[in-house]
This record gives sequence, C-alpha cells and structure tokens, in this order.
Amino acid sequence: MTRFRIAIDGPSGSGKSTVARKVAQRLGYLYIDTGAMYRAVGLKVTREQLPWDQPDAVIEAASRARIELRAGPHGLRVILDGADVSEAIRTEAVGQAASRVSSIPGVRRILVRAQQDLGRRGGVVMEGRDIGTKVFPEAELKIFLDASEPTRARRRFAQNRDKTGALDLEGILEEIRQRDRRDRERADSPLVQARDSLYLDTSNQTVDEVVEKILKMVQVVEGKSGSG
Ligand code: DC
Repeated sequence: MTRFRIAIDGPSGSGKSTVARKVAQRLGYLYIDTGAMYRAVGLKVTREQLPWDQPDAVIEAASRARIELRAGPHGLRVILDGADVSEAIRTEAVGQAASRVSSIPGVRRILVRAQQDLGRRGGVVMEGRDIGTKVFPEAELKIFLDASEPTRARRRFAQNRDKTGALDLEGILEEIRQRDRRDRERADSPLVQARDSLYLDTSNQTVDEVVEKILKMVQVVEGKSGSG
C-alpha cells in the first residue's frame, strides 16, 4: 500500500497539531511538527543571546543545532543538542522567537532540507506553514486548517505553559495577530493556502470531526491512486 505524505498547514491555533497528531496515530504514520523545529532554533538563539539583527549568526546557530523529534508514550518529544526541550519551547516568547528565525531564508533552507529527509519515504503527516507549498509541493493530500481569530486566541491561551505571565486573552490575541502578520507577509515561503489544498475552518468543529473528514479524504486519495 502506498504510504502518503499528508501536508497540514495553517495559522497558529487553527488546531493543526492536535489534528495532525491524531490523523498520524489513526494511520500509523509518523507525525512531524515542523513548528517545533523552528521553536527549537528560536530557543537556541535566545539562550545563546545571539544578535537578532545579524542573520548570519542565527543561520550559523541553526546549522549547529541538533534537533530530534522522538515519538514517546506521552506525545512527541523535542530534543535540542541532547536535552529535552519539549516544555521549554511552548512559551509565547519562544513562539515569537520561532516566528522571527523562520523569516530568515538561510534558516528555512536548513530546516526544510531536514523536513524533506524526514518525509522522503512517505507515511508522514507533516504540519506547518509551508508544507504543501514548499516542503512537499507534491504531497498526495494537502489540508489548510483555519479558525476565527478569537477561537485561535482561546486555544493558544489554553496551550501556553507561561500562563502565570502577563498575557491575558487580549494580549494573546494581539500576539497572534502580530505573529500571523509576520508569517503571512514574510518574503520567503509565507503562509498561504496551496491552490490544490482542502480548506477546513475548524472554529465550530470538534477535533474528532476534523480528523474524520481528513481520514475520509485519505480514503478518496487512496481510491484514486488505486492503492486502497
Ligand atoms: O506552529 P508553531 O506555532 O509551533 O510555529 C512556530 C513558528 O514557526 C511560527 O510562527 C511560524 C514558524 N513556522 C514556519 O515558518 N514554517 C513552518 N513550516 C512551521 C512553523
């Protein structure tokens, strides 16, 4: 049976991670969270206090970073230079740092190549911003997940580990707007919907409803490719 590449793109808080993880579980596919890779680089640059205004220093850090994604019993673990940073990368500050490093083309080149290697053999659900447009433009199935701004802010608020920080829902909403603007307006691989992707608004749908819709699409694609 053909093992497909499933690309799931969308803005932050659209439900990508939860949905992608579940779809991968149901299919027995590998789940790859590419945002975690940008977050790991963002964390490294922050920890090493590298100058943000010098892209070469950031690119050099990205090329030195050893990033591993390990499937564990409690979900995906993210290992940076040998240390587990799964929790440390989930703060809003690291999210902003990730968004900044991700606008540097040299950083994207390094991470995109690593992502293409991870998905080369198929059997992956990969989520991010540019998977259907750049990493795997030839993916067998492309989904673009979206949700209203208030919904996305609420989800992000629930996910953040730094709840004790100053950010309330309003603050998160503002950060989401900023980050989305940067992700959509950057010159290299901005967040755009691939023309051949399926658009799903998840604002009023449960995770399971979205997962079922995607699994049905997988069956349709399997039928078309004659491998079902
Ligand atoms: O999905 P996330 O919030 O964990 O992603 C963190 C940042 O990384 C996000 O602001 C944009 C960037 N990113 C990207 O540019 N391309 C990807 N494929 C994934 C994430």
